[in-house]
Amino acid sequence: MKKKLATFFIGTSLVIGLAACGGGDDGGKDTASAGGEKIYDQKCSSCHGGDLKGGMGPALDKIGAKYSKDEILGIIEKGTSGGMPANVVKGDDADQVAEWLAEKK
Ligand code: HEC
Repeated sequence: MKKKLATFFIGTSLVIGLAACGGGDDGGKDTASAGGEKIYDQKCSSCHGGDLKGGMGPALDKIGAKYSKDEILGIIEKGTSGGMPANVVKGDDADQVAEWLAEKK
């Protein structure tokens, strides 16, 4: 019985320890470029793929070699006739994700 209890406590503290680590990681990711990645994951990855490799939309893993940040921002704002919807994200979020993507070369 005592042994079981100890196992329970070790197990519980492990879980708490891991949860605390995860929380700390998120806090550290509060830079502009990490914001872009987060926005991409939430708003763009459903069509462009979780790793920028494309899906229903084209791959964006080398998009920075093709377009500047402003051009990417223009695509986000206006969309394209080929299926890219306009204004998936706006304002600051659009700016951050465009900046993040412009670095993918
Ligand atoms: C509903 C699906 C969908 C979503 C959501 C979506 N896209 Fe697209 N996107 C597309 C499609 C389809 C194309 C290809 C359009 C074309 O060829 O005209 C495209 C094209 C692009 C292009 C141009 C690629 C090239 O090589 O010319 C960029 C840049 C882009 N998307 C960025 C984004 C960003 C950033 C987001 C999130 C804010 C996003 N997209 C969300 C479907 C989507």
